[in-house]
Amino acid sequence: MSTSKKRETFSSGLAVFFATLGSAVGLGNIWKFPYLTGQNGGGAFLLVYFLCILFVGLPIMLSEFYIGRKTRKNAVGALEQLKPGTQWKNIGIMGVGASCLIMFFYSCVAGWVYFYLFKALLGDFANVTMETAKAQFGSVIMGPLSPIVWQFIVLAVVTAILAMGVKQGIEKITKTLMPLLFVLIIICDIRALTLPGASEGIYFLFHVDFGQLSAAAILAALGLAFFKLSLGMGTMMTYGSYFTQDNNMFKTAIKVAFSDTLVSMLAGLAIFPTVFSFGMEPTAGPGLLFMTIPLVFSQMPFGTILLIAFFFLTAIAATTAMLSLVEVPVAYLSEEKGMSRKSAAIVTSSVMFAVGILATLSVDKASVLGHITIFGLGFFDLFDYISSNILLPLGGLFIALLMGYSIKQEEVVTELSNHGQLKIAGLVKGYFFLVRYVTPILLIIVFLSSIGIIKF
Ligand code: PHE
Repeated sequence: MSTSKKRETFSSGLAVFFATLGSAVGLGNIWKFPYLTGQNGGGAFLLVYFLCILFVGLPIMLSEFYIGRKTRKNAVGALEQLKPGTQWKNIGIMGVGASCLIMFFYSCVAGWVYFYLFKALLGDFANVTMETAKAQFGSVIMGPLSPIVWQFIVLAVVTAILAMGVKQGIEKITKTLMPLLFVLIIICDIRALTLPGASEGIYFLFHVDFGQLSAAAILAALGLAFFKLSLGMGTMMTYGSYFTQDNNMFKTAIKVAFSDTLVSMLAGLAIFPTVFSFGMEPTAGPGLLFMTIPLVFSQMPFGTILLIAFFFLTAIAATTAMLSLVEVPVAYLSEEKGMSRKSAAIVTSSVMFAVGILATLSVDKASVLGHITIFGLGFFDLFDYISSNILLPLGGLFIALLMGYSIKQEEVVTELSNHGQLKIAGLVKGYFFLVRYVTPILLIIVFLSSIGIIKF
């Protein structure tokens, strides 16, 4: 046993599942998944996304669980313990960086969600039409002061919960509110699917047309798979380090990936029928969620209450995902740099707020900082692109190489089988085949094609 101070763990298998799902489910499902699917042509993108989850996401998730639970440390400390004195710990350092980059824009979008909740409570969306929905979104993101204030509120909430610790903070919140989110999205679906013209939306989502698929779209699908399942940056290592010792990590990974994908599909089934029914463009981009959902509930019995509930639960989903994002640097600073959890949380969120303002002020070309571009992207898009499309898949590639080639297979088998208690020989074989050959090769091909070195 290590001599370091006693570390918390989640209290049960159910808590492990909901906390991990709480990390995976977030704005990625409700905001990013629909708009990326819309921008990249629907069904074919969806199919590539599923393949990425299966052949890249699942093995990386399991690898991260293994690294975390085996070492019971933060991402950097875990890799240092597994491979002392080597460069592998840099995956963890990169993860701390990726966590910040994601939070810069994530806290901004979460701020819009909180703001929408507030507006829904005030009854601002009564009698909304397509035009007013668009105009309202425009005024929310343009601020310039209000979106910054909401971003601040978001970060303050996250900091407060994280300072409370793993069991009190993360576990309690996820276990109660995740199931409610499912129910509410299903209500949205029923409404959206019964709108006139809904079938066009379903056709868009499920019709596979490979003509629509570019190398950039494939990279986007891969990046989305990482972002969605919170992979490639140490989040799942950190959460794995809080898992109970008897947890069946194969099962947890499969259940989390499946449930997360289900939530994304349900969100897509709420949004696309609405888009087509109201004659909007599926390619509308980051505003898609905010412009469609008020319309879903308009002129519906109990519409205002349902709209409030929807944004409340989206706020919760975003918040629980942010807890896991910020937990990466917080666990690192508190375990490796001797800070208290509270100061680590405050320092981290302050940095996220300071730089996050840049994202918030550059959402649109007409925003205050919208004219500044680096590699042709404004800050908001740049932070998103570097993290999702570069850092997370790169982190994933290194994790696959580490697990496939640098760690003794017997050790992995012992840990994944809970010291021989689980009969998982076949699964383990499949797992090693994937992390050794399939996952890294796919990642390398997608990278090379996205920078134009190979062409299909
Ligand atoms: N998975 C979260 C979502 O979809 C975002 C996230 C990414 C969380 C990376 C943690 C780490 O919203």
